[in-house]
Amino acid sequence: MTTVDSAPTALRPHAEEDFAEELRALAAADDRPRPPRWRMSPWAVSRYLLGGTLPDGTVISPKYVGPRRVVEVAVSTLATDRALLLLGVPGTAKTWVSEHLAAAVSGDSTLLVQGTAGTAEEAVRYGWNYARLLTSGPSREALVPSPVMRAMSEGVIARVEELTRMPADVQDALITILSEKTLPVPELGQEVQAVRGFNLVATANDRDRGVNELSSALRRRFNTVVLPLPASAEAEVEIVARRVEQLGRSLDLPPLPDGVAEIRRVVTVFRELREGATEDGRTKLKSPSGTLSTAELISVVTGGLALSAHFGDGVLRADDVAAGVVGAVVRDPAADAVVWREYLETVVREREGWKDFYRACREAAA
Ligand SMILES: Nc1ncnc2c1ncn2[C@@H]1O[C@H](COP(=O)(O)OP(=O)(O)OP(=O)(O)O)[C@@H](O)[C@H]1O
Ligand SMILES: [Mg+2]
Repeated sequence: MTTVDSAPTALRPHAEEDFAEELRALAAADDRPRPPRWRMSPWAVSRYLLGGTLPDGTVISPKYVGPRRVVEVAVSTLATDRALLLLGVPGTAKTWVSEHLAAAVSGDSTLLVQGTAGTAEEAVRYGWNYARLLTSGPSREALVPSPVMRAMSEGVIARVEELTRMPADVQDALITILSEKTLPVPELGQEVQAVRGFNLVATANDRDRGVNELSSALRRRFNTVVLPLPASAEAEVEIVARRVEQLGRSLDLPPLPDGVAEIRRVVTVFRELREGATEDGRTKLKSPSGTLSTAELISVVTGGLALSAHFGDGVLRADDVAAGVVGAVVRDPAADAVVWREYLETVVREREGWKDFYRACREAAA
């Protein structure tokens, strides 16, 4: 995609720009066979996602923290003629993984269709430049290709976000593309055939089920890979610390000095409320209405880091994160507030070494 005024200080650079150095080093070190038009082998793509150290000493940072097999199945699907559907509850890195897959396989993660209730067929197929259409009639020049059409003709990966939010007829437009690997343009009596290397990564949210159920015809064209919630508190702390550090760097926040202990507590709170039981399994808890996803954890901690940097002493403390935690847990001011109060008084208050956290949360809720 051509960027208007592409600045080196983009607030959020695309994965292929942000990790250009890693991608280059991986491609250079990679001597395994590459599928047509892939920038690197499936093995190197999964290395890019999972992280590791190359023979020349280059460190590849882990992008995805989770089961290796999940990544391997996702990557190898893209080397077949089936498309990839990343499914999971909110905040399980579906969008994140899809972006990095496209960046590693094709060097371009920007061929993206965002699925919403208002997504029109043109976003998946093609549209027209009406000025040209009026002056010169339907022609190749007047045609405005969709990201999917461009990916087909260039033999690269296209991305569809939130597939199940798109209306059923728009979803159906993908069926011909995925089964016939062609996109007919009847107005021109032509078709655009997919070049080898083309494939599609879609994401869909578990919780959206029922919004627009995926038709079985379309589902059959996808290999579904479910991204799980982080398996352990340690894994979740690692994900949060890593992402907060990256985000903090791009926001010019100071590095996280010794904030991991505080992150550990916030992760514990989120996991306990999400699972409806304390970590030791002894106390049953009511769960609040919100999702309490890893993504929300990341923003609570990033917010806390900004607070401590600008108004605190630069160390992440309980009162930096308390307001964020309460805000994430108490979505519905009536029911969730009761759940939170009960958790605070029965669990947080009694826990050894959590007095400061308890006090900060009480103040934040007041
Ligand atoms: N297992 C994980 N490994 C690495 N990062 C993760 C993991 N889980 C969540 N994240 C981080 O959480 C953030 C949110 O992820 P993302 O937006 O991709 O979630 P999503 O599954 O697309 O959610 P939604 O369903 O709301 O669209 C990202 O910054 C991502 O890095
Ligand atoms: Mg997403």
